[in-house]
This record gives sequence, structure tokens and C-alpha cells, in this order.
Amino acid sequence: MTVYAAKAQKPDLYECRDEIFPSQEDIACELQLAALGDWVPLDFKIDYDLWKKNEKAIKHLYRPFQPTKGVMNDRESILVYGMEGDTATTPSGLDQYKAKLGYRPPEQLFTHPTEAHSQLTCMNEIFEYFDDWTRSFIVKLNSGGHYPYHRDHCRINRETIRLIVFFGDSNGGLDWEVDGKNMSWYPNRMYYVNTMKRHRLSAWQKDCAMGVFTVRKNWSNVTRIMSRYL
Ligand SMILES: [Fe+2]
Repeated sequence: MTVYAAKAQKPDLYECRDEIFPSQEDIACELQLAALGDWVPLDFKIDYDLWKKNEKAIKHLYRPFQPTKGVMNDRESILVYGMEGDTATTPSGLDQYKAKLGYRPPEQLFTHPTEAHSQLTCMNEIFEYFDDWTRSFIVKLNSGGHYPYHRDHCRINRETIRLIVFFGDSNGGLDWEVDGKNMSWYPNRMYYVNTMKRHRLSAWQKDCAMGVFTVRKNWSNVTRIMSRYL
């Protein structure tokens, strides 16, 4: 008899194997994104002075991101796209939504811009460029702020993909590890990041500001990424 070292993983996915089978569009999008890479700078330049001006106008809207009892974790967020009725100060962590709603809502339901959206004029070109925006927020990590190892998705039929904007230069003060590799980035740029890969973040200095943006994964948005990679 064969003895397996690890227990079978995710038996619930086996149970719904037909339901999660990827569509032709899923396969086309994932193959194309995989060809570009896991960490892809895009040709959008954020005006840092304008970001600072925008941030000054909305900084009163920062709230602690998913505070957890017994864990020191200095991170704050402002919601930019949320669920219907949300505001920029609605707690933006999915576990916080789960506590409120009784279920973990899928990111594709977060299509409503909050009052912070119109204040982010440094993002206007990018907001107009991509289609179908979903759950998005500004996040600021200060010394000790972190996101432990996780994957945002594990299946190639994921509905959404992540676009990260680095406001200012936090290289050296912020660790971003993706798939076992420590990343560096151009300041004030947007990246497509394959957050299906195992990743973690930790900050060693204050004011590490990022835009964590999400759009629907569809061929339209993937071709937009293909047109603007560096
Ligand atoms: Fe993540």
C-alpha cells in the first residue's frame, strides 16, 4: 500500500471539479499573462506630486486594515471600489466583510466607486484605461505592517487580477516576495502582479503607500496589459 506524506488537499474542489473547470477565455488569459510574467511593470507613470496632493485630501479616510487581536500590524487602507453602499472608510478586508455579511463576498461584486475615487486624479488615465474595476483600495504599511504568506487565488478560473501601484519609492523599506523571489520596482509605476503565486509583504519604514487595484480577468483587460508592458 502506498503511504502518502501529505493529506489530500482541498477535497471540496474535487467535489466541484466540473464547476471550476476553466473556460476557453480563462485559458487564453492565463496563458497570455503567464507569458508576460508574475511581476510586470506597465507603462503608466504616476505624478508623485499629484499623488501627495490627492493623498492630503483623503488622508482622514485611512482606517486600520483588518486589525487582528494579538497581532501588531501597522497597516491602513482607504476603499476605492467597494460593494453597493460602501464608503471610503468601510473596512476593506474580506474577513471584515465576512464578519458583517456572514459570507466572504467575491471580489467581482465590489464595483462601486467610493468618494475617494474622484479624489485620486493621479489615477485618472489608469481608471479610464482598464475595464470592469472591482475591489480596490489604497493601502499604507508603516514599520511592522505586513501581509503574511498567502495566495489571493489558486485556480486559473479566477475572476479577477491584481494591479499594484507603488506611490513614491519604498524600495529597501518594503519587502515584496513573490514565489520565493524578493522583488524591486520602479517608483510611481503600476505592475501586474500574479497574486496566485505565494506572496508576502513586510514594511521596515513608515508611509509605504500602494494602490491595490483589481479588475475583472477578461480578454479585454489582458490585451490592455499586453499593450502597456515595459
Ligand atoms: Fe495578496
